[in-house]
Amino acid sequence: MDIIVSTILYSMALVPVTLSIAFVLLLLKTFTGKSIQSSKYPPVRGTVFVQLVHFNQLYDYMTGLVRRSTTFRLLAPDQSEIFTADPRNVEHILKTDFEKYTKGKYDIDIMKDLFGEGIFVVNGEKWKKQRKVASFEFATSVLRDFSCCVFRKNAVKLVKIVEELSAASEGFDMQDILMRCTLDSIFKVGFGVELNCLEGSSKEGRAFMKAFDEASALTYWRYVDPTWALKRLLNIGSEARLRNNIKLIDNFVHQLIKIKRNQLAAWREPNDKEDILSRFLLECEKDPMNINEKYLRDIILNFIIAGKDTSANTLSWFLYMLCKHPLVQQKIVDEIRDVIGDQASEANPDEFVERITDPVLHRMHYLHATLTETLRLYPAVPLDGRCAEIDDVLPDGFHVKRGDNVNYLAYSMGRVHNIWGEDAEDFKPERWLKDGIFQNESPFKFVAFHAGPRICLGKDFAYRQMKIVSIALLRFFRFRLANETRPVTYKVMFTLHINNGLPLRAVPRLAK
Ligand code: HEM
Repeated sequence: MDIIVSTILYSMALVPVTLSIAFVLLLLKTFTGKSIQSSKYPPVRGTVFVQLVHFNQLYDYMTGLVRRSTTFRLLAPDQSEIFTADPRNVEHILKTDFEKYTKGKYDIDIMKDLFGEGIFVVNGEKWKKQRKVASFEFATSVLRDFSCCVFRKNAVKLVKIVEELSAASEGFDMQDILMRCTLDSIFKVGFGVELNCLEGSSKEGRAFMKAFDEASALTYWRYVDPTWALKRLLNIGSEARLRNNIKLIDNFVHQLIKIKRNQLAAWREPNDKEDILSRFLLECEKDPMNINEKYLRDIILNFIIAGKDTSANTLSWFLYMLCKHPLVQQKIVDEIRDVIGDQASEANPDEFVERITDPVLHRMHYLHATLTETLRLYPAVPLDGRCAEIDDVLPDGFHVKRGDNVNYLAYSMGRVHNIWGEDAEDFKPERWLKDGIFQNESPFKFVAFHAGPRICLGKDFAYRQMKIVSIALLRFFRFRLANETRPVTYKVMFTLHINNGLPLRAVPRLAK
């Protein structure tokens, strides 16, 4: 008995000793070999663990650091995490020295369980191959016309849902509705399948969306949880939940591939395929050794993550900005009326959306400027980066060691005076217009869509969807915040979610 008790006590004493040793080793690893004192390297502002302390306001904390020095470092056990808001450095890592900066092992290890070997995670030949097939698909007029059609149909569904909800006095979560809308759109355009998440008729669709959202939040959590690899090994806590969610996602996606394969077998004119997955399935027939079930699963998941949250988050921040700036909301409504003409008074949503054609979208300069201004201040991907494959020197003179990650802070870049002037923090769509015509900016300064050879493939697709949805919504409703005093902030994830959603009220707009 005594032996058992003393063994237990001994083991209990061992735990804190082991933890202390592990902690000291971690500190030693973090602080050694990083040339901390050398002014050749970016100034050190702490360790990566400060991100955990400031997790809920991470991007504003980073903006504060950027105001002290445009490029700085946080130390990690194996490398330095360099952060920059200098457009010259952004151009250097994303374009000029593209080959030297890749998706590094650190990011890939974190992302690969969920993203597999999809376009977001791969480098070199694997990336080139996926980029080639996908960019070909995105460039076709078939995809443009088909996507316009899908966005219009979903915009009508959205108007009808908001109409029902506008009767309720307590408001409704617009971000959740937009998420369901963009998920339905990417399923239809990407994979040719009706998910019906927006109308809520598909139980599997809802379960998939929940699993997907949880899995991406849990994957992001790995960036700040130093114990994630151990938890993954033991299959406990957040990692056990992540594994379960991924299992559900995989089952759903494999089912989808099966349906598509059957459809394709029954339907044999390859050039007529409208959706992106069909294009990849045809590639699969040409190269079955390399393009297998797992490859298709990864492609699907990467397109969902690319297409769903980014556009829905941007539309949510856009509506939030319009509630805060009613004059801007009114100017867009005026533009809808000016560009669409008398038909803007069309009271039937099905008939009204038919007027939203490609030429109409091209003439909506103020709307385009307002969406872009939203992305400047609330970039859907607020922080992104690459890993240095070799030692290098950035254009601002700071040195980088092989294995360091160089991250660009899109959120902070939208808020600094040396890029956008004294009014950087103000929401001003007019800054994008000259004589009423939208003017582009350098993609290294306005970096919301990334830049260089890996620039977002879905940029036009996203603008098309966001414009169609916002034209339909603003034609039929005036939006207000459900609670003016509730603070609105972001949730730290891969994309810039509004934390706890966006409760809105919608007042039906009468046709004039
Ligand atoms: C407001 C909407 C969007 C924003 C702000 C946005 C932004 C971005 C950013 C920052 C990246 C670079 C990510 C990285 O580091 O690898 C990216 C890549 C990508 N985006 Fe988008 N995106 C949007 C919508 C879309 C949509 C709707 C699609 C497709 C349907 C899409 C497809 C892609 C793809 C395929 C890539 C990977 C490109 C590559 O690595 O070669 N995006 N996007």
